Amino acid sequence: MREVTREAYAKINLFLRVLGVREDGYHDLESLIVPISLSDTVTCREAARLKLSVSGGEPSLSEGPDNLAVVAALALADESGSLDGADIELEKRIPVAAGLGGGSADAAAVLSALNELWACGLSQGKLVELAAQIGSDVPATLVGKPVLVSGRGEHVTPAEVPEMWWVVVPAPFHIRTPDAFRWWDEEGGSTGPDPARLVSLLASGDLLSATPLLFNDLEGPVFARHREVAETKWRLLEAGAIAAIMCGSGPTVAGLSRSEAEAKDVASRFDGAHVANTRR
Ligand code: C5P
Repeated sequence: MREVTREAYAKINLFLRVLGVREDGYHDLESLIVPISLSDTVTCREAARLKLSVSGGEPSLSEGPDNLAVVAALALADESGSLDGADIELEKRIPVAAGLGGGSADAAAVLSALNELWACGLSQGKLVELAAQIGSDVPATLVGKPVLVSGRGEHVTPAEVPEMWWVVVPAPFHIRTPDAFRWWDEEGGSTGPDPARLVSLLASGDLLSATPLLFNDLEGPVFARHREVAETKWRLLEAGAIAAIMCGSGPTVAGLSRSEAEAKDVASRFDGAHVANTRR
């Protein structure tokens, strides 16, 4: 039986700049999104029908049509006219509703795997278009390399970043993305600085000059409602991280280290922390 496997990589936003709310309720944003080595695994096998099975992760994870992996498979079937099914096996390791883009990465991996398994022949550009219909973070995760993102997330262009080692500290609770954006609205919505200098420092490999410039406009609104997320950030800095930043809409916080050894040392002080490097 034929099968296609893809790794679905979590992401970190090196900056997340929220520009404002739009008429459709989404927010225009700018971000530099980098995939990290923490991943789920997606395996798609030929089958008469479409079926998703999930292992690992939280028991509450849906195997039904509300899982973005199924949404992605149905969107691709619709776009390509494929009448085939697939057994989709999803091994979860990325924390759920944690700001790490796990669900989006799973959807992107399904698009890519089924495009091959079903021999749909959709171009990368067409897949990115389809990805944008599934969710705002799906185009960036589909690219699988660092990207600058704009619009609500649908415009992606490649970016250069140096090697980076992260300590990823998840929280024992979830934050829904729409809530974090609504809290930003409620706080009157502050927008971080023009990221041009940060982007060019990273492109030139000057990590130490870039680190003080990392920011996430959703941190303030989230910290105001979940003090423990702010505390995780300070604990990471106290433990020796050279920068710490909330991932996407939270509540995960990622601390940056100078090396793998330093990252392991910092991670040893946190329960359930992952050490991951940036995929470039
Ligand atoms: O696109 P996605 O379905 O992942 O977005 C989930 C929710 O997050 C949206 O319904 C919206 O409330 C919020 N969002 C936003 N602006 C974005 C991305 C997401 O307001 N750029």
